[in-house]
Amino acid sequence: MSCRSEDIVEFLLTRRSIRQFKPEPVPDDVILKILNISRYAPSAGNRQPWIFVVVKDGAMREKLSSIHPGSAPLLRAPVGIVVACDKNSSPISYQVDCANAAMYIMLAAHALGLGTVWLQTLRNVEDIQKVLELPENYVPIAILAIGYPAEKPQPKPRKPLEEMVYLNKYGNRYST
Ligand SMILES: Cc1cc2nc3c(=O)[nH]c(=O)nc-3n(C[C@H](O)[C@H](O)[C@H](O)COP(=O)(O)O)c2cc1C
Repeated sequence: MSCRSEDIVEFLLTRRSIRQFKPEPVPDDVILKILNISRYAPSAGNRQPWIFVVVKDGAMREKLSSIHPGSAPLLRAPVGIVVACDKNSSPISYQVDCANAAMYIMLAAHALGLGTVWLQTLRNVEDIQKVLELPENYVPIAILAIGYPAEKPQPKPRKPLEEMVYLNKYGNRYST
């Protein structure tokens, strides 16, 4: 790998959730490149319990974006990718596995100059399954709105590191 580690750290720190998108479409080969990368996300037992539904159709995006107020960015994005997970094939860890795949999609998109935002699904599983005609065992874990960014948001604040790190056991602060 030729990237310098500082560049990779910078790459990770500069990902932002993007909610405003340019109207230009995302080419199919770019979508497939991103999804090809996401197959390399780790999963328990390497079961890879995910499927991806690429939503380009405007009426379908409208239906999904009206399911809850937080999903409105999907209306402004040229494409959505729904990460759905087969709960039967990985009953204990399917949500974690598919969150990994969703995160890989976000990072691959960021690497290719695209913006994404994760739209919550877990409070509206049945509504989303109905719109997408997903079988009952496929639980939508994330809807990712994807497109070329039309905004440059400021970083969202993060809790201080010292509030979340312990040494050896809970309560014992890790400090230098
Ligand atoms: C599980 C999950 C659900 C989220 N749901 C929504 C959502 O429904 N709508 C939205 O606009 N952003 C949503 N977000 C994005 C978060 O608001 C965002 O990641 C967080 O504020 C940190 O900002 P950043 O991604 O720019 O660092 C979600 C993120 C995660 C991981």
